[in-house]
Amino acid sequence: MIKKVLIFGFVATLMFSSCGGGDNSGENTNNVKSVDEETLGLIKSDVQSDNENLLGAMPQYSTKAPGTAEKIERSFENAPPMIPHMTDGFFPITKDNNICLTCHMPDKVASTGAVAIPPTHFTDYRPKVVKVGDKYSVDAEEGEVVSTKLSNLSAARFNCSQCHVPQANVTVDIKNTFDRVFRNEASKTGSNLNDNIKEGVEK
Ligand code: HEC
Ligand code: HEC
Repeated sequence: MIKKVLIFGFVATLMFSSCGGGDNSGENTNNVKSVDEETLGLIKSDVQSDNENLLGAMPQYSTKAPGTAEKIERSFENAPPMIPHMTDGFFPITKDNNICLTCHMPDKVASTGAVAIPPTHFTDYRPKVVKVGDKYSVDAEEGEVVSTKLSNLSAARFNCSQCHVPQANVTVDIKNTFDRVFRNEASKTGSNLNDNIKEGVEK
Protein backbone atom coordinates (compact mmCIF):
# COMPACT_ATOMS: atom_id res chain seq x y z
CA MET A 1 0.00 0.00 0.00
CA ILE A 2 2.73 2.46 1.00
CA LYS A 3 4.55 1.59 -2.20
CA LYS A 4 1.48 2.45 -4.24
CA VAL A 5 1.05 5.82 -2.54
CA LEU A 6 4.70 6.60 -3.17
CA ILE A 7 4.46 5.75 -6.85
CA PHE A 8 1.29 7.84 -7.17
CA GLY A 9 3.03 10.74 -5.49
CA PHE A 10 5.96 10.47 -7.88
CA VAL A 11 3.74 10.35 -10.97
CA ALA A 12 1.71 13.29 -9.71
CA THR A 13 4.87 15.35 -9.19
CA LEU A 14 5.98 14.53 -12.73
CA MET A 15 2.63 15.64 -14.12
CA PHE A 16 2.61 18.91 -12.20
CA SER A 17 6.11 19.79 -13.23
CA SER A 18 5.44 19.10 -16.94
CA CYS A 19 2.26 21.19 -16.82
CA GLY A 20 4.35 24.02 -15.44
CA GLY A 21 5.50 24.95 -18.97
CA GLY A 22 2.00 26.08 -19.86
CA ASP A 23 1.45 28.74 -17.20
CA ASN A 24 1.30 32.38 -18.13
CA SER A 25 4.15 33.59 -15.97
CA GLY A 26 6.60 32.39 -18.64
CA GLU A 27 8.69 30.86 -15.94
CA ASN A 28 9.79 27.33 -16.52
CA THR A 29 10.65 25.17 -13.60
CA ASN A 30 12.34 22.40 -15.60
CA ASN A 31 13.46 24.24 -18.76
CA VAL A 32 10.84 22.67 -21.05
CA LYS A 33 10.11 25.12 -23.88
CA SER A 34 6.45 26.04 -24.00
CA VAL A 35 4.58 26.36 -27.32
CA ASP A 36 3.14 29.77 -28.20
CA GLU A 37 -0.50 30.02 -29.18
CA GLU A 38 0.60 31.60 -32.51
CA THR A 39 2.80 28.69 -33.52
CA LEU A 40 0.30 25.93 -32.81
CA GLY A 41 -1.37 25.80 -36.25
CA LEU A 42 0.07 24.86 -39.65
CA ILE A 43 -0.93 28.22 -41.16
CA LYS A 44 1.83 30.63 -40.20
CA SER A 45 -0.23 33.76 -39.73
CA ASP A 46 -2.00 35.57 -36.99
CA VAL A 47 -5.20 33.63 -36.42
CA GLN A 48 -6.69 36.49 -34.42
CA SER A 49 -6.26 39.09 -37.16
CA ASP A 50 -8.90 39.87 -39.80
CA ASN A 51 -6.41 41.73 -41.95
CA GLU A 52 -4.62 38.87 -43.64
CA ASN A 53 -5.93 37.49 -46.91
CA LEU A 54 -6.06 33.85 -45.91
CA LEU A 55 -8.38 33.03 -48.83
CA GLY A 56 -5.64 33.97 -51.28
CA ALA A 57 -3.52 31.23 -49.80
CA MET A 58 -6.27 28.62 -50.01
CA PRO A 59 -5.34 25.44 -51.90
CA GLN A 60 -6.45 25.28 -55.52
CA TYR A 61 -8.31 22.31 -56.96
CA SER A 62 -7.67 21.07 -60.50
CA THR A 63 -9.12 23.27 -63.24
CA LYS A 64 -8.43 20.68 -65.95
CA ALA A 65 -11.57 19.57 -67.79
CA PRO A 66 -12.26 15.81 -67.87
CA GLY A 67 -10.33 14.44 -70.83
CA THR A 68 -7.36 16.76 -70.33
CA ALA A 69 -6.21 15.63 -66.89
CA GLU A 70 -3.56 13.03 -66.10
CA LYS A 71 -4.27 10.05 -63.86
CA ILE A 72 -2.78 10.24 -60.37
CA GLU A 73 -0.84 7.19 -59.14
CA ARG A 74 -2.74 5.06 -56.63
CA SER A 75 -1.97 5.50 -52.94
CA PHE A 76 -1.55 1.72 -52.68
CA GLU A 77 -2.51 -1.27 -54.78
CA ASN A 78 -6.25 -1.22 -55.52
CA ALA A 79 -6.81 1.98 -53.59
CA PRO A 80 -9.71 4.06 -54.91
CA PRO A 81 -8.16 6.35 -57.54
CA MET A 82 -8.28 10.07 -56.84
CA ILE A 83 -10.15 12.37 -59.20
CA PRO A 84 -7.61 14.14 -61.44
CA HIS A 85 -10.02 16.49 -63.29
CA MET A 86 -12.01 19.50 -62.12
CA THR A 87 -15.28 18.80 -60.33
CA ASP A 88 -16.89 22.26 -60.33
CA GLY A 89 -20.67 21.78 -60.25
CA PHE A 90 -20.41 17.98 -59.91
CA PHE A 91 -21.29 17.98 -56.22
CA PRO A 92 -23.46 17.27 -54.39
CA ILE A 93 -24.29 13.88 -55.85
CA THR A 94 -28.02 13.32 -55.32
CA LYS A 95 -30.48 10.53 -55.99
CA ASP A 96 -31.58 12.22 -59.22
CA ASN A 97 -28.30 13.81 -60.24
CA ASN A 98 -25.04 11.91 -60.51
CA ILE A 99 -23.05 13.41 -63.35
CA CYS A 100 -20.16 10.96 -62.81
CA LEU A 101 -22.29 8.21 -64.32
CA THR A 102 -22.77 10.06 -67.61
CA CYS A 103 -19.06 9.63 -68.40
CA HIS A 104 -17.87 6.68 -66.29
CA MET A 105 -20.57 4.02 -66.90
CA PRO A 106 -18.93 1.22 -68.94
CA ASP A 107 -21.28 1.79 -71.89
CA LYS A 108 -20.36 5.51 -72.01
CA VAL A 109 -16.55 5.37 -71.94
CA ALA A 110 -16.09 4.67 -75.64
CA SER A 111 -17.44 8.14 -76.39
CA THR A 112 -16.23 10.03 -73.29
CA GLY A 113 -12.71 8.56 -72.93
CA ALA A 114 -13.25 8.14 -69.18
CA VAL A 115 -12.06 5.14 -67.15
CA ALA A 116 -14.89 2.60 -66.87
CA ILE A 117 -16.41 1.95 -63.45
CA PRO A 118 -14.87 -1.46 -62.59
CA PRO A 119 -16.74 -4.79 -62.12
CA THR A 120 -16.41 -4.57 -58.30
CA HIS A 121 -18.91 -1.70 -58.38
CA PHE A 122 -21.46 -3.99 -60.06
CA THR A 123 -21.08 -6.65 -57.37
CA ASP A 124 -22.78 -7.08 -54.02
CA TYR A 125 -20.36 -8.30 -51.35
CA ARG A 126 -22.90 -8.38 -48.57
CA PRO A 127 -24.09 -11.85 -47.57
CA LYS A 128 -27.81 -12.43 -47.25
CA VAL A 129 -29.30 -12.26 -43.79
CA VAL A 130 -31.30 -15.39 -42.98
CA LYS A 131 -33.56 -16.32 -40.08
CA VAL A 132 -32.61 -19.52 -38.35
CA GLY A 133 -35.21 -20.36 -35.72
CA ASP A 134 -35.79 -17.05 -33.97
CA LYS A 135 -32.28 -15.70 -34.68
CA TYR A 136 -30.89 -13.85 -37.64
CA SER A 137 -27.49 -14.75 -39.10
CA VAL A 138 -25.54 -14.23 -42.31
CA ASP A 139 -25.72 -16.82 -45.06
CA ALA A 140 -21.95 -17.31 -45.35
CA GLU A 141 -19.20 -19.50 -43.99
CA GLU A 142 -16.43 -18.03 -41.84
CA GLY A 143 -13.85 -16.50 -44.20
CA GLU A 144 -16.08 -16.90 -47.27
CA VAL A 145 -16.13 -13.96 -49.71
CA VAL A 146 -19.70 -13.56 -50.87
CA SER A 147 -19.98 -11.85 -54.24
CA THR A 148 -23.17 -11.58 -56.22
CA LYS A 149 -22.99 -10.05 -59.68
CA LEU A 150 -25.57 -7.32 -60.17
CA SER A 151 -27.09 -6.10 -63.41
CA ASN A 152 -26.92 -2.50 -62.16
CA LEU A 153 -24.41 -0.35 -60.29
CA SER A 154 -24.43 -1.37 -56.61
CA ALA A 155 -26.25 1.19 -54.48
CA ALA A 156 -23.27 1.00 -52.09
CA ARG A 157 -21.17 2.62 -54.88
CA PHE A 158 -23.59 5.33 -55.94
CA ASN A 159 -22.02 8.06 -53.82
CA CYS A 160 -18.69 8.18 -55.71
CA SER A 161 -17.13 10.92 -53.59
CA GLN A 162 -17.43 8.75 -50.50
CA CYS A 163 -14.27 7.06 -51.83
CA HIS A 164 -13.02 9.10 -54.82
CA VAL A 165 -11.97 12.64 -54.03
CA PRO A 166 -10.47 15.54 -55.98
CA GLN A 167 -6.99 16.73 -55.07
CA ALA A 168 -5.71 20.23 -54.28
CA ASN A 169 -2.16 21.57 -54.48
CA VAL A 170 -1.48 21.57 -50.77
CA THR A 171 1.93 21.25 -49.24
CA VAL A 172 1.76 20.19 -45.65
CA ASP A 173 4.77 20.25 -43.37
CA ILE A 174 4.15 16.68 -42.29
CA LYS A 175 6.27 14.01 -43.92
CA ASN A 176 4.38 11.02 -45.28
CA THR A 177 6.40 7.95 -44.44
CA PHE A 178 3.95 5.44 -45.95
CA ASP A 179 5.79 3.14 -48.34
CA ARG A 180 3.75 2.22 -51.42
CA VAL A 181 4.40 -1.22 -52.83
CA PHE A 182 2.99 -2.33 -56.20
CA ARG A 183 3.30 -5.84 -57.56
CA ASN A 184 3.48 -4.55 -61.14
CA GLU A 185 3.58 -1.31 -63.14
CA ALA A 186 -0.05 -1.60 -64.27
CA SER A 187 -1.41 -1.49 -60.72
CA LYS A 188 0.03 2.00 -60.20
CA THR A 189 -2.69 3.41 -62.45
CA GLY A 190 -5.24 0.61 -62.75
CA SER A 191 -7.05 -1.87 -60.57
CA ASN A 192 -7.58 -5.64 -60.58
CA LEU A 193 -9.46 -6.05 -57.33
CA ASN A 194 -12.23 -8.01 -59.04
CA ASP A 195 -9.74 -10.76 -59.93
CA ASN A 196 -8.05 -11.07 -56.56
CA ILE A 197 -10.66 -10.01 -54.01
CA LYS A 198 -10.48 -13.47 -52.38
CA GLU A 199 -6.70 -13.34 -52.07
CA GLY A 200 -5.57 -14.09 -48.52
CA VAL A 201 -9.14 -14.48 -47.29
CA GLU A 202 -10.59 -17.70 -48.72
CA LYS A 203 -8.58 -20.87 -48.44
C1 HEC B 1 -17.33 14.82 -68.79
C2 HEC B 1 -16.97 13.44 -68.44
C3 HEC B 1 -16.61 13.14 -66.99
C4 HEC B 1 -17.33 13.42 -65.85
C5 HEC B 1 -18.66 14.16 -65.73
C6 HEC B 1 -16.58 12.86 -64.74
N1 HEC B 1 -15.43 12.27 -65.19
FE1 HEC B 1 -14.03 11.32 -64.08
N2 HEC B 1 -12.82 11.12 -65.69
C7 HEC B 1 -13.15 11.48 -66.99
C8 HEC B 1 -12.00 11.25 -67.86
C9 HEC B 1 -11.97 11.51 -69.37
C10 HEC B 1 -10.97 10.74 -67.03
C11 HEC B 1 -9.51 10.37 -67.41
C12 HEC B 1 -8.60 11.52 -67.03
C13 HEC B 1 -8.74 12.65 -67.99
O1 HEC B 1 -8.55 12.42 -69.19
O2 HEC B 1 -9.08 13.78 -67.57
C14 HEC B 1 -11.52 10.67 -65.69
C15 HEC B 1 -10.82 10.21 -64.58
C16 HEC B 1 -11.40 9.94 -63.36
C17 HEC B 1 -10.79 9.20 -62.29
C18 HEC B 1 -9.37 8.61 -62.28
C19 HEC B 1 -9.42 7.17 -62.73
C20 HEC B 1 -8.09 6.47 -62.64
O3 HEC B 1 -8.05 5.29 -63.02
O4 HEC B 1 -7.10 7.05 -62.16
C21 HEC B 1 -11.68 9.14 -61.27
C22 HEC B 1 -11.51 8.46 -59.93
C23 HEC B 1 -12.86 9.86 -61.69
N3 HEC B 1 -12.66 10.34 -62.97
C24 HEC B 1 -13.99 10.02 -60.92
C25 HEC B 1 -15.05 10.85 -61.26
C26 HEC B 1 -16.12 11.19 -60.36
C27 HEC B 1 -16.27 10.67 -58.96
C28 HEC B 1 -16.97 12.02 -61.05
C29 HEC B 1 -18.19 12.72 -60.53
C30 HEC B 1 -17.97 13.56 -59.35
C31 HEC B 1 -16.42 12.19 -62.40
N4 HEC B 1 -15.25 11.47 -62.48
C32 HEC B 1 -17.01 12.90 -63.42
C33 HEC B 1 -14.39 11.96 -67.40
C34 HEC B 1 -15.39 12.41 -66.57
C1 HEC C 1 -17.09 2.32 -51.28
C2 HEC C 1 -16.02 3.01 -51.98
C3 HEC C 1 -16.25 3.35 -53.44
C4 HEC C 1 -17.32 4.00 -54.02
C5 HEC C 1 -18.57 4.54 -53.34
C6 HEC C 1 -17.00 4.15 -55.43
N1 HEC C 1 -15.77 3.58 -55.67
FE1 HEC C 1 -14.81 3.52 -57.47
N2 HEC C 1 -13.31 2.44 -56.65
C7 HEC C 1 -13.20 2.09 -55.32
C8 HEC C 1 -12.02 1.25 -55.14
C9 HEC C 1 -11.53 0.66 -53.82
C10 HEC C 1 -11.42 1.11 -56.41
C11 HEC C 1 -10.15 0.30 -56.78
C12 HEC C 1 -10.43 -1.19 -56.72
C13 HEC C 1 -11.51 -1.64 -57.65
O1 HEC C 1 -11.31 -1.66 -58.88
O2 HEC C 1 -12.60 -1.95 -57.15
C14 HEC C 1 -12.25 1.89 -57.34
C15 HEC C 1 -11.95 2.03 -58.68
C16 HEC C 1 -12.63 2.90 -59.54
C17 HEC C 1 -12.20 3.24 -60.88
C18 HEC C 1 -10.90 2.77 -61.58
C19 HEC C 1 -11.15 1.52 -62.38
C20 HEC C 1 -9.90 0.98 -63.04
O3 HEC C 1 -10.07 0.11 -63.92
O4 HEC C 1 -8.80 1.34 -62.69
C21 HEC C 1 -13.13 4.12 -61.38
C22 HEC C 1 -13.12 4.78 -62.74
C23 HEC C 1 -14.15 4.31 -60.36
N3 HEC C 1 -13.82 3.54 -59.26
C24 HEC C 1 -15.24 5.14 -60.49
C25 HEC C 1 -16.25 5.26 -59.54
C26 HEC C 1 -17.46 6.04 -59.73
C27 HEC C 1 -17.78 6.88 -60.96
C28 HEC C 1 -18.21 5.90 -58.60
C29 HEC C 1 -19.60 6.43 -58.34
C30 HEC C 1 -20.63 5.99 -59.27
C31 HEC C 1 -17.46 5.06 -57.67
N4 HEC C 1 -16.28 4.68 -58.29
C32 HEC C 1 -17.85 4.74 -56.37
C33 HEC C 1 -14.05 2.46 -54.32
C34 HEC C 1 -15.28 3.09 -54.50
